[in-house]
Amino acid sequence: MWGGRFEGGPSAIMREINASIPFDKALWRQDIAASKAHVAMLGRQAIVSPEDAELIASGLDRVAAEYETSGVPENWDLEDIHMTTESRLAELIGPVAGRLHTGRSRNDQVATDFRLWVRDALDEADAGLKALQVALVTRAGEHADSIMPGFTHLQTAQPVTLGHHLMAYYEMAARDRSRFADARVRMNRSPRGAAALAGTGFPIDRAATAAALGFDGPTANSLDSVSDRDFALDYLMAASQCALHLSRLAEEFIIWASQPFGFVRLPDSLSTGSSIMPQKKNPDAAELVRGHAGRIIGCLTALMITMKGLPLAYSKDMQDDKPPVVEAAGLLTLCVAAMTGMVEATTFRTDRMRAAAELGYAPATDLADWLVRQAGIPFREAHHITGAAVKLAESRGAALDQLSIDDLKAIDARIDDRVYAALSVEASVAARVSHGGTAPGEVRKRVAEARGALGLG
Ligand code: ARG
Repeated sequence: MWGGRFEGGPSAIMREINASIPFDKALWRQDIAASKAHVAMLGRQAIVSPEDAELIASGLDRVAAEYETSGVPENWDLEDIHMTTESRLAELIGPVAGRLHTGRSRNDQVATDFRLWVRDALDEADAGLKALQVALVTRAGEHADSIMPGFTHLQTAQPVTLGHHLMAYYEMAARDRSRFADARVRMNRSPRGAAALAGTGFPIDRAATAAALGFDGPTANSLDSVSDRDFALDYLMAASQCALHLSRLAEEFIIWASQPFGFVRLPDSLSTGSSIMPQKKNPDAAELVRGHAGRIIGCLTALMITMKGLPLAYSKDMQDDKPPVVEAAGLLTLCVAAMTGMVEATTFRTDRMRAAAELGYAPATDLADWLVRQAGIPFREAHHITGAAVKLAESRGAALDQLSIDDLKAIDARIDDRVYAALSVEASVAARVSHGGTAPGEVRKRVAEARGALGLG
């Protein structure tokens, strides 16, 4: 396709290093759609005759049908998906196929195709995350009252509700969706018509091809259009952040499923066994989600490093943009689906969670708060008095509310027996009614809002 000025052909090494068809064949649907939009515009603008435009469009449909049934052939001599399609088109309809490449270049072609592909990936991520949110609000609604220990430093801190804990991940997923939505708005401009780098002298209609491909309009600068891969980086940044959240959720399930915790029974469908230890049920899906986050972040790093320092406009380095994005998208889809399945089908052992919340003096803050409220003691002093009570309880292997009133009065005379009402884990969570707090009523309120936002009613 470009052999006119060459004497010899490329070496075997050149052909191999140059060929992107093994991975950019993933873009075939977008390549056909963009070519059809282009040739329709060429026909309307009388840049090619209406008959030729018609012939090319129906030829492209035939190529697409072949790809659909037999896959995209991989011929390194044809380098990439753009030349593969054009060459097959020429075989099917003859030399008129050569008119398709009027007023365009592979540089604006690949920029367009890849944007369309990434746009689909953004939409897929959004749909997956929405399903995850549905699973989270459903389980959170079931467990708005289920008490578990809340942790800081992975040390028992204060009792919380399981519903509250799950809704924390709903909020993360909401931010992830908004990041993907932002990226979509920013990327939805058509580079088609920038041609190689400088635009074209043919009277093309960029607004028409943009509209035909669902873009909000054409990009503004032809050099930027063919050299910009921000849309791919935006996607990878949002995907990395999302994968990071998923890996945190995965880690919670891994910890909760371990025998000393025993907070959950993971679904058999998302666990595996050991070939040597018959008793084992391993949280492999969660561990792989945790691991895949590393690979997804690696994909972001790879493309950032590819793009850094590239002068305007197109450089062949940019051909390496596709593998990391395609890899990350495949991994992200899997990870979102795995965590959705895990949230949906895990058995929460609320008895074990409730019992664990009793350990570790989780209501200690409630004793301190009671001293502040009922006895007018400054919080720092109340903190100190509470510390003494915890120490005494610990020496007896008892919970705080198992200390007698005489024991408590011996620590501070201002304590009276109304204090016991504040010391249960139920009272502790029920007290935390501040906006966004863990009280069951607050959790139910947020679950209801979230269900509304998801259209669940
Ligand atoms: N396969 C190329 C890529 O993915 C298409 C653009 C080639 N452009 C060029 N001037 N060689 O980047």
